[in-house]
Amino acid sequence: MSVEIPAGLAELLRGYTVEVLRTRPADLLEFAVRHFTQLHRSRDPAGPPPEEEEQEEEEDTFTEEIRFKRPPPSKFNRRVSVCAEAYNPDDDDDDDGETRVVQPKTDEQRHRLQEACKDILLFKNLDPEQFSEVLDAMFEVQVKPEEHIIDQGDDGDNFYVIERGIYDIEVTRDASAICVGKYDNKGSFGELALMYNTPRAATIISKQTGALWALDRATFHRLIVRNNAKKRRIYETFIESVPLLKSLELSERMKIVDVLGVKTFKDGEQIIKQGDKADCFYIVESGNVKIMLKSKTKATQKDNEEVEIARCSRGQYFGELALVTNKPRAASVYAAGEAKCLVIDVQAFERLLGSCIQIMKRNIASYEEQLVAVFGSSADLQD
Ligand code: CMP
Ligand code: CMP
Repeated sequence: MSVEIPAGLAELLRGYTVEVLRTRPADLLEFAVRHFTQLHRSRDPAGPPPEEEEQEEEEDTFTEEIRFKRPPPSKFNRRVSVCAEAYNPDDDDDDDGETRVVQPKTDEQRHRLQEACKDILLFKNLDPEQFSEVLDAMFEVQVKPEEHIIDQGDDGDNFYVIERGIYDIEVTRDASAICVGKYDNKGSFGELALMYNTPRAATIISKQTGALWALDRATFHRLIVRNNAKKRRIYETFIESVPLLKSLELSERMKIVDVLGVKTFKDGEQIIKQGDKADCFYIVESGNVKIMLKSKTKATQKDNEEVEIARCSRGQYFGELALVTNKPRAASVYAAGEAKCLVIDVQAFERLLGSCIQIMKRNIASYEEQLVAVFGSSADLQD
């Protein structure tokens, strides 16, 4: 359920959290309007969120249902301490409460937020009501070039979805920082510390002016981490049966389940387009997909039309080639009948499937044979 806040009010409430203890959006709006004047007196709308000293978090209860809270003292509502421990969502009895967080937004902000979140894999398994709660709780963060959004080793505060901007991912090992990848105007980061109660595993630095949407730790826990327990139960048996993943430890396979998204494609729907930049990897959960290739080198191919070169069914994977070779997609992929796929983003692919890359490379060798069989040459897969 979304709560619409008039534009002027949204600005005045910027930086505050409005907690709706029992969901009564009408009350929230009424409350906000009633306290408009009081808010105006207490803070400068153009200024930064209010200064916090070492004081207790300021909290006022105006009605039984609504609490109005200042954010904790930090850059982006940063949480102050967490403990590092092995984490299994099945054992999650952490009582985050059922407190629903509503960060006021204008219609324009909500529209931009929805756009930024529509392909976020971690949100794919949420039901519409849970997704709406996530959107309600998210708040906008503007970033400057060279800003450290996350520092490796810090405690986890928020999960971030990218609206725009380029962000480097740096991992420090043996005192040297290596750039292991980047986010280019899409994707999300900051889930690991929140999922596993561990320190931040990488540093994220913005390379230009950008915009992010942040989701607080408690809401992430209540909606995403708890949902992961369900996801583990649903996918445990299937993921164990995927031949590619056989060599992984059970805990490694479960980490894949924690970050994957599930997408369903209609008959004939394009899943991958030949020549596109690659950002994810797929495992077929049900149905079939067909791999189609338009040869750039086979002169005799009529009108440069696509030719089917292979099919993948349950337990098989595709979309690894471009990620392994760092090249554009080598072929197009379409659903043949309705198909359901597990989707893993490139960052998780590199982090979690590194030890499977040798197996994938052996399979890639067979792609050349397929091309020779279809086109009489494998030149399309060469540089
Ligand atoms: P978290 O550990 O919470 O904070 C840093 C984030 O960087 C991490 O979550 C991931 O979302 C993201 N990330 C991207 N690539 C990597 C990587 N190779 N290792 C660790 N974290 C990564
Ligand atoms: P990628 O290039 O990322 O996207 C298209 C995918 O089609 C490719 O990864 C492979 O996973 C899959 N594929 C299957 N057979 C072939 C083949 N013979 N040549 C190229 N790609 C193939």
